[in-house]
Amino acid sequence: MSERPRVIVTRRMPEAVEARLEALFDVQLNIDDHQFDNAELIGALQSADGLLGTVTDPYSKDVLAAGGALRARIIANFAVGYNNFDLEAAKAAGIAISNTPGVLTEATADTALTLLLNVLRGTWRFESMLRRGDWQGFGPTSCLGVSPQGKTLGIIGMGRIGRAMARRCYHGLGMKIIYYNRSPVADPEVPEARACATMGEVMAEADVVSLHIPGGAENRHRISRDLLEMMKPGAYLINTARGDVIDEAALIDLLENRRIAGAGLDVFENEPQVPERLLALDNVSLLPHLGSATIETRTAMGMLAVDNLEAFFDGKPMPSRVV
Ligand code: DGY
Repeated sequence: MSERPRVIVTRRMPEAVEARLEALFDVQLNIDDHQFDNAELIGALQSADGLLGTVTDPYSKDVLAAGGALRARIIANFAVGYNNFDLEAAKAAGIAISNTPGVLTEATADTALTLLLNVLRGTWRFESMLRRGDWQGFGPTSCLGVSPQGKTLGIIGMGRIGRAMARRCYHGLGMKIIYYNRSPVADPEVPEARACATMGEVMAEADVVSLHIPGGAENRHRISRDLLEMMKPGAYLINTARGDVIDEAALIDLLENRRIAGAGLDVFENEPQVPERLLALDNVSLLPHLGSATIETRTAMGMLAVDNLEAFFDGKPMPSRVV
């Protein structure tokens, strides 16, 4: 019988990560990459010493306090966000949780920048036109977008990813940067970034607002209808954080009547459902939650999750423990 810790992995991982898991643990991989339902998650928690999970696993109170002895003592979450956990229930069940901060900063900021350019320049729409065979050739007034140069970017949440987005837009696009963060942040790489006292100030002043706050109950609909209505006419919204930090229905209303000029969204309130009303709009660029999806980043995220499992089972401090 193997003495290695038993680890169940709830989704497919990049190849190098699965190879390392197999070398270290008595591991059960998810070869067909199906999404675990509550019953399968509970079964995994009852039969393994640890799980390598991700954002598609709802570790709710129902799952973590399901009754019956849970064998698992650790869940390493393949994500920086951990809004898929009821942390109090995890603590009560004596299960350690880790996440993957740091390694996905640049990839996620790249995605926010891509959305900003997509939506301001309308690139995705013009590419679709070309692919449909509708392009009539160059014209001085065709395919016109809006330039980011000299415009103001408002960052809500100036953590690692918010700062990486600010650097890109300040140095690469010549944008002015304002931000809202719970505490002021001095980033020498964006020396002229100005802290605002409230989110409303950012919403009212920015030409483009980019959201970088965590998900979870505390921030659900934090970007409320009232805040969205404070945005300047002609302003744009970018979201690579979590879908439910915005009141999505309010956003759609304001996009439909062009009160907000456009939005670039990588995340949605009820993934993978994307509201038909959003799909029907031509002033939005929509991506399938791919913020961190480069092979390099996804491999680094998996390796950090494995580092956490390994440290936990060796009785050492975990590199990125949440609770
Ligand atoms: C995260 O890490 O929280 C992302 O949303 C998944 O890459």
